[in-house]
Amino acid sequence: MNLLIMGPPGAGKGTQAEVLVKELGITHISTGDMFREAIKQGTEMGKKAKEYMDKGELVPDEVVVGMVKHRLSQPDCAKGFLLDGFPRTLAQAKALDETLQSMGIGLDGVINIDVPREKLMARLTGRRVCKNCGASYHILFNPPAYAGKCNACGGELYQRSDDNEEAVSNRLDVYAAQTQPLIDYYKEKGLLKNINGDQEIKKVLADILASLGK
Ligand code: AP5
Ligand code: MG
Ligand code: ZN
Repeated sequence: MNLLIMGPPGAGKGTQAEVLVKELGITHISTGDMFREAIKQGTEMGKKAKEYMDKGELVPDEVVVGMVKHRLSQPDCAKGFLLDGFPRTLAQAKALDETLQSMGIGLDGVINIDVPREKLMARLTGRRVCKNCGASYHILFNPPAYAGKCNACGGELYQRSDDNEEAVSNRLDVYAAQTQPLIDYYKEKGLLKNINGDQEIKKVLADILASLGK
């Protein structure tokens, strides 16, 4: 299965993706995680990306598209993939269509997690992420068993540098202006699966699996 997971910042894309890829036996591709890895490694691309990310702006299309094209050509994507956080602009969506077409494959579905904007600020400012494996927690809504430690791997939890009020508010505006229009793009292609993300994490997962016929 080749899938996309969309939704505003804080909708729960990463939280759901983590479990979904295990259930479906496919590869998780998060462009945000790839940029954070590049920042950690101190690469040139990482340094450039960080300037945009810390302000809550989008990294330029040509950088993201090149990175995703390369990632999709890796052998672990042949078993299927879940793209998380890409595409985010119409230009990226069109570039993805062309790339998949040239590979002789297509998308099987686009999961759109819907959450009212007023709930997203609290989700993001309370988020904590594992330094080691990237798993997401929330200090109130999804706390780890031991404070500051990842359930999955015992890694240390940290707060993302773009999870402050100023950057979040810009990320939400950027989403509304540039990414939300893609919902119609995929609806017209008959691929869209709308999911209510304003429910318990487990219920959201069950709804996604049901929408995929699983
Ligand atoms: P990215 O890392 O993709 O961030 P984002 O889109 O802003 O989304 P988030 O990761 O913040 O939210 P999420 O939906 O994954 O939520 P999560 O599951 O963690 O991108 C970061 C930056 O990189 C961008 O701003 C941009 O600069 C750059 N970038 C990335 N891709 C790009 C692209 N294609 N083009 C250009 N630039 C790009 O959950 C959030 C919190 O809520 C957690 O604490 C979680 O525990 C909690 N939670 C989850 N589900 C629930 C629930 N059902 N109920 C209550 N709480 C919940
Ligand atoms: Mg995420
Ligand atoms: Zn971990």
